[in-house]
Amino acid sequence: MTETLPLLLRAARGESVSRPPVWMMRQAGRYMKVYRELRDNHPSFRERSENPDLSYEISMQPFREFKPDGVILFSDILTPLPGMGIDFDIVESKGPLINEPIRTAEQINKLNTLEPKESLPFVGEVLGRLRESVGNQAAVLGFVGAPWTLAAYVVEGKSSKNYSVIKAMAFREPNLLHNLLEHFADSIAKYLVYQINSGAQVVQMFDSWAGQLSPIDYDIFAAPYQKRVVDLVKQAHPDTPIILYISGSAGVIERMASTGVDIVSLDWTVDMSEGCSRLPAGIGIQGNVDPGLLFGSPEIIRNRIIDTVLKAKGRKHILNLGHGILPGTPEENARVFFEAGKNVNELISKL
Ligand code: CP3
Repeated sequence: MTETLPLLLRAARGESVSRPPVWMMRQAGRYMKVYRELRDNHPSFRERSENPDLSYEISMQPFREFKPDGVILFSDILTPLPGMGIDFDIVESKGPLINEPIRTAEQINKLNTLEPKESLPFVGEVLGRLRESVGNQAAVLGFVGAPWTLAAYVVEGKSSKNYSVIKAMAFREPNLLHNLLEHFADSIAKYLVYQINSGAQVVQMFDSWAGQLSPIDYDIFAAPYQKRVVDLVKQAHPDTPIILYISGSAGVIERMASTGVDIVSLDWTVDMSEGCSRLPAGIGIQGNVDPGLLFGSPEIIRNRIIDTVLKAKGRKHILNLGHGILPGTPEENARVFFEAGKNVNELISKL
């Protein structure tokens, strides 16, 4: 007898399911006490994400605590950069720092094509171990940063407010930027294929900062490279669902669907019904719940989940936040979110 595949995987493939699966972006991290304790003993982010025992352990922390329908690899979108010859660090309260920002043709020409098996063996190991541990109780999620967002970090050298350095490159030396984006697209596609080969069942591409582009520029610098990644991954793994997330995406929702992804992940600045009405019927929907809501009362959280689920009804839907859970979020409110998500049918029947 074949065991039932994980709910999240079945939902993401478009099968009809009894309720929307639920997971959270950044569901492992600083809002959890067990994570903060582990971090005290292992203060380096690179160590926490590149030592397979630690990365596995952190990935499992929210699963043990809340039993979400998805378990995401604990890693970062910047993790593949050293394998391309770009060193980075993540510094508490400063965020990501690139030691030598990439700004010249010479630097771009010198980048290595990513060989994930060689430079990221720990990722393959952790994904395999996660699959073994969670079985069919949850789907294992892999992820990458999309070319534009990775380029924003390596060109700016750090988190940016106004993206002036990369925009100067886009609007003065576009060919230089296109070379960098192309390099990232091919390497990131290889990396996703490696993650899927290693055990990831659903994958998410974060183009977190593509919402910083005007739609006219999104069509030039973000969409073609998202599509290139999707095309290359679909060639190797046509049945693995791909989710695309962008922060500040309200102006480009239709464009997100045109990249060939299976599921569009919304932030919270657009109403769920309007978001759905702007997407073709076959495209799934994820996200949309304001992470700030988890600072509110359990009643507010439950009511918003009900509202979100009802508005997405009739469409492939994965319940999630509109961006990562915020540091300082009370853990009991994360629990309310997961519990309400799993009991949403009962909550709705009581209305
Ligand atoms: O979702 C998960 O639980 C998996 C883990 C995960 C992390 N980063 C761990 C992390 C994921 C999916 C990411 C993706 C990521 N990283 C994105 C895309 C998602 C998004 O938020 O838009 C981006 C833009 C990054 C780059 C990055 N990494 C930033 C901006 C920061 C600092 C942010 C902050 O809040 O300080 C990081 C560090 C980072 N990556 C942390 C975690 C848990 C926080 C630092 C820490 O825990 O020590």
